[in-house]
Amino acid sequence: MKVINLSENGSLLNTFMSELRDVNVQNDRMRFRHNIVRIGHIEAYEISKLLSYSKKTIQTPLDKCEVNTYDDNVVIGTVFRAGLPLHQSFLDVFDKAGNAFVSAYRYYKDREMNQVGIKVEYCASPCLDDKTLILVDPMLATGGSLELAYEALLTKGKPKRLIMACVIAAQSGVDYLQKVFPSDDVVLVCAAIDPVLNSHKYIVPGLGDAGDLMYGDKI
Ligand code: PRP
Ligand code: URA
Repeated sequence: MKVINLSENGSLLNTFMSELRDVNVQNDRMRFRHNIVRIGHIEAYEISKLLSYSKKTIQTPLDKCEVNTYDDNVVIGTVFRAGLPLHQSFLDVFDKAGNAFVSAYRYYKDREMNQVGIKVEYCASPCLDDKTLILVDPMLATGGSLELAYEALLTKGKPKRLIMACVIAAQSGVDYLQKVFPSDDVVLVCAAIDPVLNSHKYIVPGLGDAGDLMYGDKI
């Protein structure tokens, strides 16, 4: 798996990231969701550079014009619930893309809340044969949700290409996905890689619980 970490270079992205992480700013839910959308637009632009392009001729009102546009048949796949704003930002720019949805939620298997299990209950997708699947989820902690979401989506066909996009990844989750996807044809784009996954499997420094910050607590 090839990893592209967009915060390695200074850019506007880091301003959005600092707002997402800042405990004094992130409690404004609308701003939190909007910053995810803005980061998604930047990631989608970077991912567009990885697609296959060919020249086409179009007619302007004045003359013919050659344009170099992508040929990939893109499907955007999203993990519920926290993936929703990121999905919308990718769909803003890949506006003709197909859309796939997988629900996956983490739960604790033990009283000490040290071991997480992941439950996948729902998968809705167009046929994925020969598609470029862009699978988006803002948080990559253990990597289990992305792995199981992809496994669920494989029941809907075999994509030509897999590109994953997240906002914050834990280093150990990236290492885990490297083992699941050893080929460099698979790409992970992220806006930051954080060093620690704590004993409750939360990313540190991270930003907290992305789904709750977007949509409120769940019981
Ligand atoms: C969060 C997040 C990812 C997952 C990442 O979802 O949105 O899907 O955790 O963790 P992992 O890499 O260890 O699988 P969560 O299960 O909290 O559900 P939510 O989106 O409904 O909040
Ligand atoms: N999911 C989140 O929302 N945050 C984390 O730190 C880990 C998983």
